[in-house]
Amino acid sequence: MDGVAPYVTADGRQIGGVLMDMRGITLRFGGVEAIKNISFDIREGEIRAIIGPNGAGKSSMLNVISGFYHPQDGEVWFRGEKRKPMKPYQVARLGIARTFQNIALFEGMSVLDNIMTGRLTHMKTGLLAQAIWKGRAEAEEVANREIVEKVIDFLEIQAIRKTPVGRLPYGLKKRVELARALAAEPKLLLLDEPMAGMNVEEKEDMSRFILDVNDEFGTTIALIEHDMGVVMDLSDRVVVMDYGRKIGDGTPDEVRNNQEVIDAYLGVAHE
Ligand SMILES: Nc1ncnc2c1ncn2[C@@H]1O[C@H](COP(=O)(O)OP(=O)(O)OP(=O)(O)O)[C@@H](O)[C@H]1O
Ligand SMILES: [Mg+2]
Repeated sequence: MDGVAPYVTADGRQIGGVLMDMRGITLRFGGVEAIKNISFDIREGEIRAIIGPNGAGKSSMLNVISGFYHPQDGEVWFRGEKRKPMKPYQVARLGIARTFQNIALFEGMSVLDNIMTGRLTHMKTGLLAQAIWKGRAEAEEVANREIVEKVIDFLEIQAIRKTPVGRLPYGLKKRVELARALAAEPKLLLLDEPMAGMNVEEKEDMSRFILDVNDEFGTTIALIEHDMGVVMDLSDRVVVMDYGRKIGDGTPDEVRNNQEVIDAYLGVAHE
């Protein structure tokens, strides 16, 4: 695991070089230092977990990666290039998609239409062009629909495709949010507590989908999760945050045996 030489995991997945490299990131909100000089990387094909107590700065870190927050200090490198400050839609165009800690879907719209919004960053034809070149817009719509249909099959949500999202139980809403992110065909997928509030069975389903996405599409995944069983099962490497600092980084076993991590997080009760 040392260095950046590609390797094959015990379960036969390919891990490549560094995809995303966060270097010395510091993020402040007024007097609050949400992230304190943190560096870590995410390798191609990897499932990378970010864990830590409430308020540790985990969501803030995903928000820096996805362009929602702009750090005061540090550098974000993606695919070997230093990223300029970018808006979220520009980050999305680089192939980075996300889900939110609090589900962010259009409750009145159907499952299908919500997932279609995941294609927006790929749409080349603007409204004017759509009016002039009707054929091109239609061809694009068909291509987008095909990708969305594949995602619906993959996540096994055919039965609810026409249901307004507002009527779905929580666990299915989370799955629809994952579907929308997948519709963007991301290179890097960011999941902020994809299993929070789920029962055991829903967690098992979501875990399986996350592993399948990684395995079948080669998608690199960074996820925040509080359930340590899930983290240990899913992730190749884990970053541990506490009060904005990084207190651990390594394989699940390394992190589990790290005394500072045990004291700050693993040894104490949390949700
Ligand atoms: N938009 C914001 N404005 C001001 N402070 C913020 C903002 N976002 C986060 N913070 C603060 O930054 C710190 C880290 O918050 P963050 O949401 O990143 O933690 P977290 O690790 O995701 O916690 P949780 O497990 O509860 O989701 C907290 O003190 C929080 O209050
Ligand atoms: Mg959070």
